[in-house]
Amino acid sequence: MMHAIKRRKSIREPGNKHRDAGASSLSEAIRRHHRNLGGTLRSHARGVGGGEPQTERESFAAFLKFDLLPHARGEERHLYSTIDKLVREHGNPTATMAVDHEFINDYVTKIEVVIQRLKSAVESERPRLLRELRELSLRLDAVFELHLAKEEQVYLPLIEKYLGRTDQDRILEAIHKS
Ligand SMILES: [Fe+2]
Ligand SMILES: [Fe+2]
Repeated sequence: MMHAIKRRKSIREPGNKHRDAGASSLSEAIRRHHRNLGGTLRSHARGVGGGEPQTERESFAAFLKFDLLPHARGEERHLYSTIDKLVREHGNPTATMAVDHEFINDYVTKIEVVIQRLKSAVESERPRLLRELRELSLRLDAVFELHLAKEEQVYLPLIEKYLGRTDQDRILEAIHKS
């Protein structure tokens, strides 16, 4: 919820005119807000779906509707146009996708580890490991679903519209070889 982000006092950083106080305090405020949202989401997510009281489920729904969604709306309305400009001038538009790939790699490693552990786990450890396997798999599934949607909704239409057949064939061949 961008409007809930508290403004912080300016801190001048001498010697770096591009990192003025406004820039650094905005990113700090966003990180802090993300930590709060992420922490709250995680604790709700881990607490529901069992025998929790209905009031807990309703407070989860209220958090999603009145905190999580407004945060996304606030960013779309007030932040992303500036981010577009910054990325065009100083960034790399596919860096966010490489972050997705890092997360996907991490999940794959963690899932492999749990599967290996299950091979030799004693009976008392199995329920916890199986729960962990299920949770990691669902989280990877969510990340992968989102990642595919981004590639298919944003990148593929650009390829179809602007990339010639020869370039398409060259890339396809390279992807198949790797
Ligand atoms: Fe955000
Ligand atoms: Fe990908």
